[in-house]
Amino acid sequence: MRARITGTGSYAPERVLTNADLERMVETSDEWIVERTGIRERHLAAPGEACSDLGTKAAARALEAAGVAASDLDMILVATCTGDAPLPSTACLIQHRLGATKAAACDIGAACCGFVYALAVGDAYVKTGFRHVLVIGSEVMSTITNWKDRNTCVLFGDGAGAAVLSATTEDRGILSSHLHSDGSLWNLICVPGGGSRMPPTDKMLADELQYIKMKGNETFKVAVKTLEESAREALKANGLTVGDLDVYVPHQANARIIKAVATRLELPMEKVVLNMDRYGNTSAASIPIALDEAVRAGRIKKGHVVMMAAFGSGLTWATSLVRW
Ligand code: UT7
Repeated sequence: MRARITGTGSYAPERVLTNADLERMVETSDEWIVERTGIRERHLAAPGEACSDLGTKAAARALEAAGVAASDLDMILVATCTGDAPLPSTACLIQHRLGATKAAACDIGAACCGFVYALAVGDAYVKTGFRHVLVIGSEVMSTITNWKDRNTCVLFGDGAGAAVLSATTEDRGILSSHLHSDGSLWNLICVPGGGSRMPPTDKMLADELQYIKMKGNETFKVAVKTLEESAREALKANGLTVGDLDVYVPHQANARIIKAVATRLELPMEKVVLNMDRYGNTSAASIPIALDEAVRAGRIKKGHVVMMAAFGSGLTWATSLVRW
């Protein structure tokens, strides 16, 4: 048995924040943001619009595309670092809203790598007998973004993407997943406060420790290195070369990171899906949104070899190779 992606879906909230809007909020410029990151605008959730709201909409679209009823789902996995609340899991909230009455449901915390990690978990469960697993990446990054910090606030956006994994005996689907971590680099990207180490207090909020802190430059270097390494690892594990790759769907953090990886791999940019210009970095949602857009645009076709690859807080890095 293999797990095949039988449907994808995505959703972005209505409100759009442009670089020109950010110019009025912090000392930055459209030119700097575009040149350094490739981002032009990002979507922001409305007040009160939470992770499960975005995730449910993306999931409904993926189920429709797959032709799978929510009641037939065996499992729902939600990759997120911005769930509705610490308890219950956002996956349970979405399970209820979809009416997925027989599905197991839990969240996966692997930051920007969450979707690729969740795909790997879903794949493993399909191999043990589950028929349909719904994998969602959903984030409301705007709630953990410090809108006064120009180092980070120009980067992130809100959104959700989803994929339905279904069991198949066909010779296509997920070929392999390669998941990695190095917790010694935990402080490159972190939200220091709000958890059990530093529970919410007036002081914690006054010190603005509920927001993302990032060492951008150091992260950049590790990202390029790990993305290149794990792409080569995934191809080698399947007896494939870079030339066999049809579509590369990387985590949409920074266009310069992706271009550097493509150069190192000697992968033509025509094979790379880039959409951070319109979404910014949506963490665990970035790959499933880009994947859904590529599928719906007809860029990904039956038989294509597709690579999804991410890196992020943890640090974690992960690659999934799929024959579509
Ligand atoms: O998904 C999570 C993974 N995270 C990432 O992928 C982030 C990876 N890192 C990056 O994308 C880049 O490092 C950034 C886009 C965050 C920063 O780009 P950079 O080329 O590494 O710039 P830098 O941090 O070295 O900063 C260069 C200069 C600094 O000024 P000085 O010290 O040279 O005077 C910053 O203060 O740019 C300044 N700067 C800004 N200027 C205008 C930083 N942010 C801004 C800004 N607008 N928004």
